[in-house]
Amino acid sequence: MTVKRDFLSLLDCTADELDGLVQRAKALKALQRDGRLHRPLEGRTLAMIFQQHSTRTRVAFETGMTQLGGHAVVLAPEDTQLGRGEPIEDTARVLSEMVDIVTIRTGSHEDLIRFASSASIPVINAMTSRCHPCQLLADVLTFEELRGPLAGRTVAFVGDGYNMCHSYINAARQWGFRLKIACPEGYRPDPEFLSGSNEATLVESAREAVEGAELVVTDVWSSIGHEEEAARRREAFAPFQVTETLLDQAADDVVFMHCLPAHRGEEVSDTLLDDPRSAVWQEAGNRLHSQKALLEFLLA
Ligand code: CP
Repeated sequence: MTVKRDFLSLLDCTADELDGLVQRAKALKALQRDGRLHRPLEGRTLAMIFQQHSTRTRVAFETGMTQLGGHAVVLAPEDTQLGRGEPIEDTARVLSEMVDIVTIRTGSHEDLIRFASSASIPVINAMTSRCHPCQLLADVLTFEELRGPLAGRTVAFVGDGYNMCHSYINAARQWGFRLKIACPEGYRPDPEFLSGSNEATLVESAREAVEGAELVVTDVWSSIGHEEEAARRREAFAPFQVTETLLDQAADDVVFMHCLPAHRGEEVSDTLLDDPRSAVWQEAGNRLHSQKALLEFLLA
């Protein structure tokens, strides 16, 4: 009997498997660029449960499934019985009878775990309040394309110690890079993530985090679910805005990334996304190739 694999966190894969996903994403990107058909998932179906908004994650999975020869179905809560209170465990068991793989974006990481525990098919975390592992596959791919392997490098995460920061802490462990994290008091990452990490350290200021870093990353100050705190957060996070001047403190060949969507004038200056050091558009495009590699890994 085959044991199903889930991708709920970067820690669900070995470091070798993660590296394999990044290398495979490069190969799939080249196949697509050369117009060569590669359809190993013909006849396979992906169900995508989105309980929160998404552009990149959704389009990458849906387009990726099409390019790999399969089919994707989007399930928004308002269209399904989940939105009318059907237990998530029952939904997991029903979908397991019909489709081959599921992605879920939900604010509650516990709901993701409950779903995955009841499903007999692979389940992918398309982002929860705890982590966003799919984004890290694209980020590592992008850095490798531009500068080579991340192992042994120094990365700075500046901003909210939330799901992206947690995934960077896991990534530092898996890919072997140093991670300096600068967050306002009260918005630091969950100690549970930090306690298992030899690679990640908290520093006091954005400048201290960025000094010498070869990759600088930030995320929005008010993630999905925190919109009502936006005014308070703008005040707390103001010293943590990433600007061109802050990036000048980093390594000469620094790369800047942001998972997007970005709020210009908040976590980034108005013009940073278009700075030559920014790789955000390539990073967004790489969601497609890395998620295709993940689908192939879990299904093929
Ligand atoms: N970065 C990211 O996950 O984008 P979406 O919210 O648009 O999917």
